[in-house]
Amino acid sequence: MKIPFGKPLIGTEEINAVTRVLEGPILVHGPVATEFEAAFANFTSAPHAVSVSSCTAGMHLIYFALGYGSGDEVIVPAQTHVATAHAVELTGAKAVFVDVDEQTGNIDIESIKAAVTPRTRAIAIVHYLGVPVDMPPVLEIARQNSLFVLEDCALAPGTYLDGVHAGLHGDVGVFSFYPVKHFTTAEGGMIITRHRDLAAKINHLKAFGVDRTHGERKIPGLYDANALGFNYRMSEIHAAIGVEQLKKLNGFLERRQENFEALSQNLQHLDHIRVLPQPRDHRFQSSYYCLGLLLDESIRSKRPEIMTALGTKGVGSSIYYPQPVPRMTYYRERYGYGVEDFKKAALISDGIIALPVGPHLNKSDMWVIANELKSIWKEINV
Ligand SMILES: Cc1ncc(COP(=O)(O)O)c(C=O)c1O
Repeated sequence: MKIPFGKPLIGTEEINAVTRVLEGPILVHGPVATEFEAAFANFTSAPHAVSVSSCTAGMHLIYFALGYGSGDEVIVPAQTHVATAHAVELTGAKAVFVDVDEQTGNIDIESIKAAVTPRTRAIAIVHYLGVPVDMPPVLEIARQNSLFVLEDCALAPGTYLDGVHAGLHGDVGVFSFYPVKHFTTAEGGMIITRHRDLAAKINHLKAFGVDRTHGERKIPGLYDANALGFNYRMSEIHAAIGVEQLKKLNGFLERRQENFEALSQNLQHLDHIRVLPQPRDHRFQSSYYCLGLLLDESIRSKRPEIMTALGTKGVGSSIYYPQPVPRMTYYRERYGYGVEDFKKAALISDGIIALPVGPHLNKSDMWVIANELKSIWKEINV
């Protein structure tokens, strides 16, 4: 691909940092993960940051730490990665899906209200494609019903609402550092929170629920387990990549915004499409994960053809997300959802082509993408 959808930008800084870790004595439980947590807390202005092995692990860890299980419900948007729902179901609780707003792809506030039952424990929201959810109404519903609020921030480093970083509006925010994300640690994640006690609890439970860290053991190897816990830690190797990547994040975000704006501009005269997400007012600062080309009903059936043609011309694309999660086999079979449910989420899933705007690309790549699309439009007679 001349213009891949995503490409991690790993430089000599990351390679040298990993080499330093590998040449040293500590590969896990060391100072680099702590340094990465402090740097991420500083970047987001979070009081507490806890590194984990992935965003999925982080979300599962939180629901587990809160003691959710059979009989509990968590409200989840239908338009998301399956991980947002799986993290709930892994505890034995039920993911209760709600539809999204057609303009943003973010959770629909009125549908949240309708989904609250006496069994509801939490609301999970997702900042879809990096555009922040309008949090005050969500927090108001949570306050009225005493619900916990988890922000799935997998696409939201650099996302701000009212000047506050995503993840700090609700009770916790969970990030992903998977390779095609805004910055990477290969695999990895981070939880941020204002709650000191919750941060301490998840630190405990992410490492087997043992009572002493390595540093706290007077006699090496001697410890007790006073709780049930996982191994969801981030290694020093992953954290070393993260420390160096984070130093570059502001530059990456600037490039994403420039590319997004250039591509939107270049696509202005393309018929039968809508660009997602549309810029909102100054309260909403996006992290510009990708540009979603939403095809009109009339050309939706041509999506495979368009994506294949783009690929042939060396332009990578993707789909975020491939189906509303309740339509995926596991959830459909478990809860009996039909294809007619979650219409707005389906409208996006079935009609979107995610185009790249990452920092591995520049404005002239955006020009190439738009031109290739214009010629495809002619070829397929749109
Ligand atoms: C919204 C959302 N949540 C969670 C995840 C899972 O992240 P991870 O691979 O770090 O577990 C993803 C991955 O793309 C995602 O897009």
